[in-house]
Amino acid sequence: MMNEHPLDQLIRALPKAELHLHIEGSLEPEMMFALAERNEIELPYASVEEVRAAYNFTDLQSFLDLYYAGAGVLITEQDFYDLTWAYLKRAQADHIVHTEIFFDPQTHTARGVEFTTVLSGILRALRQAEDQFGITSKLIMCFLRHLSEEDGFATLELAMPYLDRIDGVGLDSGERGNPPEKFARLFARCAELGLPAVAHAGEEGPAEYIWQALDLLNSRRIDHGVRCTEDPALVARLAAERIPLTVCPLSNLKLCVVDDLAKHNLRELLAAGLVAMVNSDDPAYFGGYLNQNLLACREKLALTAAEIIQLVRNSIEASWLPDDTKAFWQAEITRIAARHAQGE
Ligand code: ADE
Ligand code: ZN
Repeated sequence: MMNEHPLDQLIRALPKAELHLHIEGSLEPEMMFALAERNEIELPYASVEEVRAAYNFTDLQSFLDLYYAGAGVLITEQDFYDLTWAYLKRAQADHIVHTEIFFDPQTHTARGVEFTTVLSGILRALRQAEDQFGITSKLIMCFLRHLSEEDGFATLELAMPYLDRIDGVGLDSGERGNPPEKFARLFARCAELGLPAVAHAGEEGPAEYIWQALDLLNSRRIDHGVRCTEDPALVARLAAERIPLTVCPLSNLKLCVVDDLAKHNLRELLAAGLVAMVNSDDPAYFGGYLNQNLLACREKLALTAAEIIQLVRNSIEASWLPDDTKAFWQAEITRIAARHAQGE
């Protein structure tokens, strides 16, 4: 590429972990059309361009309406495999070495797709990526917070035979009016079963929801969490306990959490000593995979080399990789950062 910014080369070269990626949110319009045809499903769009033109969101709910509708083309094990494999190829291109992906079983089981169909297709692609690309992964089952806690318990029941293949649980979907406290008993049960928890909080919802995610759900990471800066006591706690924030800048821009990427508080989060890193959330809907998120932040926020390196170090630290593997990747980051500093 001509006249590429030197920091953009650094961004591409660094090994990264992605910790906030909804696999259903990696469904590109081209695949949506291909799967609709394969499964004889009629889409309310005439073309791929028309789908992309519809991705003009005003808030989280306006996105979720299209996201759940789009997921309706996913029917067979092969569909879930194809979806996941396409993401993993993009991940490899971005030099993602480890990914922890979310899936939303309720979106599929409510349409009559079996839990095992969803899980098998995703896992087949994850195994292949480890064999073929050396990309390691974890799988996090999300509960939809706009549904009842009872519905969540029913989903956990469906997951029981497969708990050895599920690494943790999460909480996603419409945040406003669906506080973490609504799911306290469900997450307590998941903890008893040995499933670590994460939760979306402080994306559109208030800082109070982040406190609840920590205190009532025992959330190990906060997904998004950008509204924590409204509460200095919360920021102090997140920093002291090194609770990671899985920040998704292009998502925040597309869903109008910020009206301008230049005003995003990512640098403020780092300056406060928080374990924040960059992720793509739903890349097919928000216009960019992981590197595109980092490149856009580099440009609009004028990230420094030190900040880029810190973000990538945080992604490894916040992952659920074993300590020796984390140490290996941190050493790789040190090596690549040093090479960059010498202008190579
Ligand atoms: N599901 C998929 N993407 C999401 C987001 N950004 N927030 C909440 N739920 C989601
Ligand atoms: Zn998300």
